[in-house]
Parts: sequence; C-alpha cells; structure tokens
Amino acid sequence: RAAVLAAGGFTTYAVVDYGLHPRPSSEVVDDLLLTKPATERKERLIVLGSGWGAVALLDKIDPFKYEVICISPRNHFVMTPLLPSVTVGTIETRTVVESIRSICPHVKFIEAECTGLNPQGKTLTFTSSKRPSSSREVQDSAKTRPEFQMAYDKLVVAVGAENNTFNTPGVEQHAHFLKEIIDARRIRAAIVDAFESACNPAQTEEERKRLLNFVVVGGGPTGVEFAAELADLLHEDLTKSFPKLKNDVKIRLIEATDKVLGMFDSKVSAFTAQTFEKEGIEVLANTFVKEVKQKEVLVQKKGSKEIESIPSSVVVWATGIRSRPITNKIRECIGVKEQTNPRALLTDGFLRVRGADGVYAMGDCATIDGKPLPATAQVASQEGKYLSKYLNGLPTAHEDSSVLNAVRKMYWKVAGGFTSEPFEYAHRGSLAYTGGDSAAADFKGAMNGFFDSIGMSVMTGKATNILWRSFYMSEQLSMRTKALLAVDWAKAKVFGRDFSRY
Ligand code: FAD
Ligand code: NAI
Repeated sequence: RAAVLAAGGFTTYAVVDYGLHPRPSSEVVDDLLLTKPATERKERLIVLGSGWGAVALLDKIDPFKYEVICISPRNHFVMTPLLPSVTVGTIETRTVVESIRSICPHVKFIEAECTGLNPQGKTLTFTSSKRPSSSREVQDSAKTRPEFQMAYDKLVVAVGAENNTFNTPGVEQHAHFLKEIIDARRIRAAIVDAFESACNPAQTEEERKRLLNFVVVGGGPTGVEFAAELADLLHEDLTKSFPKLKNDVKIRLIEATDKVLGMFDSKVSAFTAQTFEKEGIEVLANTFVKEVKQKEVLVQKKGSKEIESIPSSVVVWATGIRSRPITNKIRECIGVKEQTNPRALLTDGFLRVRGADGVYAMGDCATIDGKPLPATAQVASQEGKYLSKYLNGLPTAHEDSSVLNAVRKMYWKVAGGFTSEPFEYAHRGSLAYTGGDSAAADFKGAMNGFFDSIGMSVMTGKATNILWRSFYMSEQLSMRTKALLAVDWAKAKVFGRDFSRY
C-alpha cells in the first residue's frame, strides 16, 4: 500500500509540477520572466535545440529538480546517419524522425528559434521559426506566433551547425544540402524529376544526357554515403524502370584533397575508392569546385589554372559545416575577449561556456578549450548524457525537503548517477556505408584500444554492412522507429524502392 501511495503522490506531484493544469495568462507571462525568487521555485533549465546533444540530455535530466524547457525551431529529432538512405527512398521520412513531445514527455517543448542572449540578465529572445528550408505552410503558421523573451537559471546551447559553402558562388541557389528531412525529400524529388524529364519524348539528346549527370561535392562521410545510396538506387531499381537511360547516367564525386573519407584510416579510403569504381561512381580527387551554375559545375584541378565545366542536373553539396548565426550572436553577446574561438562556443572541461554564468554548450556548436573533438553525433550524444549527470548532481537554490523529493533524488542517483568530473570522450569508432551492400568501419583507438589489440581496427565489406545496420537499428530511439526501419529495409529488398514523386 505504501508503494501505491508513493507512486500516486509522485504522479500528482509530476502533473501539478509540470504546469499541466490551466493557469491564467498573467501568471504565464510572469512565469516567462521568472518573477518568483529562486528559493521558492524549481530552477529553470532551458535547452536550445532538439538534435543529438539535446535529446541525450533531455532523456536523463531530472524533471523534478529543474523546470526543463526545450526550445527549438524543429519539433522533432532527426536520425542524421540514416538521412542518405531517405534521399533515395530506401527509408521513409517518418522512420528517421521522433517527435520531441513523444520521446521527452517529461519536458516542456516550445517551437521557436532563439535570436539572442543577455548573459547578465539571464534572458533569451525568441522568434517564431522562419527557417528558410521550411515548407510554405510552416512559414505561414509561424507568422501567428508572437516573439517572446524568457528567463533562465541554467541554459544549455545545443544548436548544432549549418552547411559550409565557403561562399562558393551558386551553391545556395543551385545545390542541395543534406542536413534536414526537408533536404532529403527535396533530393529524392529532384532525382525522380531528372529521370522523368530525361524520358520526355521531346527532350533533346544533349539535355537528356545532362539531366542524368549527378554531382556530389565533398568526399567526407556525407558525400560518400549519399553517392553510395544513389548508385544503389540506380543499379537496383532505376535501371529496371528506365532501362534505356542506364548507360547515360553518371555519378561524379568531387573531392578537393587526394582521397575520399580522409578522416578515416587509409585502408577505408582505399576500400571506398575500389567499391566506387565497381559501382560506377567516378571520383574526381584533387579537384576544387569553384562555382555551381544551374546546369554545370565549374571545377579547378590541383596545380592547374584552367577552369573546367562539368554538366550537372542534381548537385549535392557536402563540404562540411560552419557555426550557425545564433552561435556567433551568442559569442558576441558574451564578448569575444572570453570567446576567443571564432568557429564555436568555447567551454571548459565541464562544458561551461567561458564568460557566461550558468550557460553550457555542447555538440557541433561548441568546443572544449584545448581539446577539440570531431563534429559527430557520437560526441554530441556523449556530451548530452554527461551534462545531465553533471546538472542532476548540482545543488540548486530551492531544495525541497519533502520525502517525495528525497525519493526522487535517490531515484536519479541510481538511474543516471551524478558526476562532478570533467567530460571525457570515449571514442567508439566510425562507420560509413560505401554502397553495394558494403560498409567500412574504423575502430582505431576505440573502446580503449580493444579492437587494435585483436587486430580488427579496420573492417570493410558486406559483413561490416551487417554491423552498420545492426548499430543504427539499435540507435533508433523508439520501438516505433525500430519497427519502421526493419519494415523499410525489408520492403526495399523485396519490392524495390518507391520513387513516385509527391
Ligand atoms: P544537431 O543534431 O544538428 O541539432 C541542432 C538542433 O538545434 C536542431 O534541432 C536545430 O533545429 C536546433 N536549432 C538550430 N538553430 C536554433 C536556434 N536558433 N534556437 C534553438 N534551436 C536551434 N555523426 C556520427 O557520429 N555518425 C554518423 O553516422 C553521422 N551521420 C551523419 C549524416 C548526415 C547526413 C549528417 C548531416 C550528419 C551526420 N553526422 C553523423 C553528424 C551528426 O549528425 C552531428 O554531429 C550531430 O547532429 C550534432 O549534434 P548537435 O546536437 O550538436 O546538433
Ligand atoms: P567533412 O568536413 O567531413 O568533409 C567535407 C569534404 O569536402 C572534405 O573532404 C573536403 O576536402 C571537401 N571539400 C571542401 N570544399 C570543397 C570544394 N570546394 N570542392 C571539393 N571538395 C571540397 O563534411 P561532411 O561529410 O559534411 O561531414 C560533416 C560532419 O559530420 C563531420 O564531422 C563528419 O565526421 C560527420 N559525419 C559523420 C558520418 C559518419 O561517421 N558516418 C556521416 C556523415 C557526417
């Protein structure tokens, strides 16, 4: 009976505490700016972003200790490693997104975009989300949302990064990025459009050939995985549906350095180059893209002054990332004297942003002073988990002395554990899909050198693809998306990919 009573009390505490009961609007406005003294309320923790870092933190943060509010222009999480498969229809869009409201029901969520920070007053400004990549309906509905200010006690910045164009002319206008779901959907539609247009009976021979030229810029993991998926689509499905076009299709990957996947072990780069040759993907190494035009890409070979033209229809731009305008704005608000890194928010080993009390940063938008880490989901997610343990263990101004609070403290100590140590990254290895049901894995230095010790630090081939699939299946956040992923993979194998355009 005691257990039932405790559980009942705990639930009531939760419902009342999350503000799920209706409140008059004046109270809501006061609440935005935190007019109540800190000793009479829970500390407010605002988390900016709904990506890898944010979700890992939200999953393990103690909602009874903090009033946790996640604010992001995107009301869902995206499983980015599976995005290349979405561009060719192997995986459906719903399989790689998770609604923040369903996976983090214990936190409040507001769909808005942060536009500024006042680190002294501990307030943030927000606008309705007007992402240029949003669909028309999303942009229109955002107009009905007011701008607002919100106060915080603690702030976690996990806003990620954006695609880097290096100010190359024509990229924004004529190339596709691959970062969000909307990008993957647009690429999928553009590929289908190119094939259907090439099939048009009135098409000129020259234009038909141009339409079948697919160009990927950047031989990092994003470019490689996309090119691999595109080649699979071509060999497994499009050649059956468009048999007359198959000999004219060209996939070119343009890379500025001398090899693809340069950040992986050289055996992985060599394996990928070999697989690409087999799959018919032409790699133009030591080639720099100078400009993207509507129907061509202008390139320059290393050591040459000549500019060459490559005909193109769909161009995917994957040359790495740069900081978002909001990250730069936050750095400016704090002061560039403290924030000396021009590319990211500089933190100490505890992920505390230098020069701003109560502000933390992680993932692609941050860098630890003297300890740069790769911009990967692996790093962001480990930082998110770490920060939840660190914040759960911190003392707050308002310490509830009730029995229920003691119970919850015990629960979070056992469930998540507290930490007061600085963040330590544990590398678990890198995986990349290389096409033709093959993948490559680089486990050098991973798991404290375990793979090196058994002589398996680099793996390539079809068996590695099973590893790749198993890993991403296990990484899916919910049973719903795990089931959808299994169905999508089976469906693509048995019935082929769907490439109707809608
Ligand atoms: P993100 O996950 O990008 O999340 C940022 C969040 O901030 C988003 O929700 C965004 O909407 C929100 N936001 C943006 N602006 C604002 C604002 N002004 N206010 C509030 N919120 C804002 N890494 C791997 O380790 N393995 C892989 O296999 C892998 N594959 C990838 C494949 C692709 C196609 C891509 C693009 C990336 C891949 N990555 C991979 C890299 C990985 O996705 C990133 O490193 C990771 O997403 C970084 O996490 P994050 O939390 O810092 O940012
Ligand atoms: P990247 O920075 O890893 O690679 C970009 C590539 O583009 C580089 O090889 C660079 O030499 C090339 N490049 C730059 N400018 C160019 C130009 N003008 N012309 C031709 N080539 C040019 O970028 P990517 O692949 O977008 O990845 C971004 C981040 O996401 C990285 O940190 C990466 O590790 C991570 N990621 C990891 C994956 C995995 O582990 N499987 C998959 C996808 C992304």
